[in-house]
Amino acid sequence: MSKRGFDSGPMGGVGGEMGQTRKQRIDLADLRPGGSGNGGIAPVGGINPYTNRPYSSKYHDILAKRRGLPVYEFLDDLLAKVKKNQVVVVEGETGSGKTTQIPQFLVDAGYTRDGYCVACTQPRRVAAMSIAKRVSEEMDVTMGEEVGYTIRFEDCSGPKTVLKFLTDGMLLREAMFDPMLKKYKVIVLDEAHERTLATDVLMGLLKDVLQRRPDMKMVVMSATLDAEKFQKYFGDAPLLRVPGRMFKVEVFYTPEPERDYVQAAIRTALQIHLCEEPGDILVFLTGEEEIEDACRKIRDESANYTSTHGELAVYPLYSSLPPTQQQKIFSEAPGPQAPGAPPGRKVVVSTNIAETSLTIDGIVYVVDPGFSKQKIYNPRVRVESLLVSPISRASAQQRSGRAGRTRPGKCFRLYTEKSFQKDLQEQTYPEILRSQMSNVVLTLLKLGVEDLVHFDFMDPPAPETLARALEELNYLGAISDEGLITQMGHRMSELPLDPQAAKMVLSAPDFGCSNEILTIVSMLSVPQVFMRPKEAAKRADEAKAQFAHVDGDHLTLLNAYHAYKQHGGSKDWCWDNFINVRSMGSAENVRTQLERMLTRMEVPLLSPDFNAPDYYTRIKKALTAGGYMQVAHLQKTGQYLTVKDHQIVSIHPSSVLDMKPPWVLYADFVLTSKNYIRTVTAVECEWLLEIAPHYYDLANFPKGETKNELEACAKRLYQL
Ligand code: CDP
Ligand code: MG
Repeated sequence: MSKRGFDSGPMGGVGGEMGQTRKQRIDLADLRPGGSGNGGIAPVGGINPYTNRPYSSKYHDILAKRRGLPVYEFLDDLLAKVKKNQVVVVEGETGSGKTTQIPQFLVDAGYTRDGYCVACTQPRRVAAMSIAKRVSEEMDVTMGEEVGYTIRFEDCSGPKTVLKFLTDGMLLREAMFDPMLKKYKVIVLDEAHERTLATDVLMGLLKDVLQRRPDMKMVVMSATLDAEKFQKYFGDAPLLRVPGRMFKVEVFYTPEPERDYVQAAIRTALQIHLCEEPGDILVFLTGEEEIEDACRKIRDESANYTSTHGELAVYPLYSSLPPTQQQKIFSEAPGPQAPGAPPGRKVVVSTNIAETSLTIDGIVYVVDPGFSKQKIYNPRVRVESLLVSPISRASAQQRSGRAGRTRPGKCFRLYTEKSFQKDLQEQTYPEILRSQMSNVVLTLLKLGVEDLVHFDFMDPPAPETLARALEELNYLGAISDEGLITQMGHRMSELPLDPQAAKMVLSAPDFGCSNEILTIVSMLSVPQVFMRPKEAAKRADEAKAQFAHVDGDHLTLLNAYHAYKQHGGSKDWCWDNFINVRSMGSAENVRTQLERMLTRMEVPLLSPDFNAPDYYTRIKKALTAGGYMQVAHLQKTGQYLTVKDHQIVSIHPSSVLDMKPPWVLYADFVLTSKNYIRTVTAVECEWLLEIAPHYYDLANFPKGETKNELEACAKRLYQL
């Protein structure tokens, strides 16, 4: 075995004398239990000024911990910098206390006097919720009152809220209705290094808002060394650097590439449990299904060793997990089963959320297979897709750093060292270079930014991407040929949906089926509804078949929702029918909120007569009214080609369609080894010509079978 390598095969190298240190050791000599020099904030004893109640004992316990965080020593410096400058950049190692402490400092320092609020943005919903909960405990207030959060379709804040954690996307939406963000005195843009699309757009917008609101402040926080770029962008803003406390982390690589990274990750986690000193484990995987599967396997396997090696508590972490379960990652590892028995440990199996957004204390071992789900976009064929892709070297460094927060740790990279050096790119590309832009472009137009080409993006998107977005919005009627936002565009932008879905919803009254479209759009916006555990695949398929509609998946979702409502939203019913009860709950919530918005916008909520022969036709036509750009046509070869862009695609195996209708509309394009279209419904070529004549303008249509077919159809249609 190579010095740095480890063999993740059965009982292989983990646990022996392996590897060399990579990280430098920084001593903890400086750790002191707080006390003076903290700017007089958060006094011990006394009355909580936010609630006028005495502080609880829990408050004091947490306070002691807070005072140990590296950022605490920089409080005075931070406040002085914020006072003197409009923008301050803060860079600090993950876990140093930036997110939980800095927004609080600002509140305590008086920035929320006179009814103002401090906002702190997060790229991820889970982080916004979890941090709001933590900070409300730290401030000894009730979550949703003084401290709250807002994520899409969920607002847990109120009139008393002085500190609000919200996703970057939500702040962008708030800006649409309040362009000067008048409510806020300070905006903290957190996790700026992640460079999400919404954060990038916010930075551009806020630069302008700050000029018009000299009283407003902004703090940009980042975990990595990119601070200089942010400083420059914000007119040489000063930097506050919070040194982290990192213990050495030994990094190990596999000697050979792993064929199946999920299996390798499971094996490695189990070996750590059997062979390594006590300490908790963090495993990075890419998505819900993979994570749940891995958790199950780790649980089953480790149960055999509980008596000899202690209990292994396994917790998943991903964005669609309900908050109470998310919170479990912070619970203590299990203790020994009996006096003298070995202590247990916990293993958290997480998506990228745990890379920088959430810090779990007590992690000593990190298992990094080297992948995450990333958005990619190809403007030429207008396909945006989430793809499991190799992470960057910067991400790999962040991940390994998670092992050294409380004491020296180990990181097991499930790839070769050569691959780390040669195959991984240095940094992850900003999302704006990998995204479809029509949603953002519509938001910017709504905000009055008309000159998109000269908008001050930190990294401007490809001109082709912008052009595609404008073209799509123009087809959807959201902007005029001159590029100005239309009445329809204004209405579309008010809905928290992508432009195609918004158009679908707003067109639905024309077909008398807004209620049904609302349901379908809500069902599409939540994680997978139909569960299909491998061990019960056949029964799951049979259960799904009860809801199947011969014309496809959108109508099947509608049927499932109706059945769910008929059974009063019963958990047992969901369980028996392999329906994800959480997803259904979310879909109901999304639906209620959208319905409220439509009522406010005076969009009529209509349903066709269920017994009328055209009930489903109306719904399919309304789907077509928003989705006509995502249509594929069956060729004589038996393959589907997407219209106009001519991509060869196959219907995803999860679809209920068992015949191949000539024309299908699809919700997603899934890139794997093959191009799949998922959530697919049969439509008719006449509707395409009738509903979207400007898109299906045959004078400007690429040559091919599809065009011939449309021409034949046009003849039939207009001779009738
Ligand atoms: O933002 P940054 O990465 O600098 O650190 P943070 O998220 O503010 O975390 C500071 C500390 O709070 C860490 O030790 C976390 O483990 C702890 N924390 C927690 O115990 N529970 C949470 N829900 C969030 C953070
Ligand atoms: Mg943070």
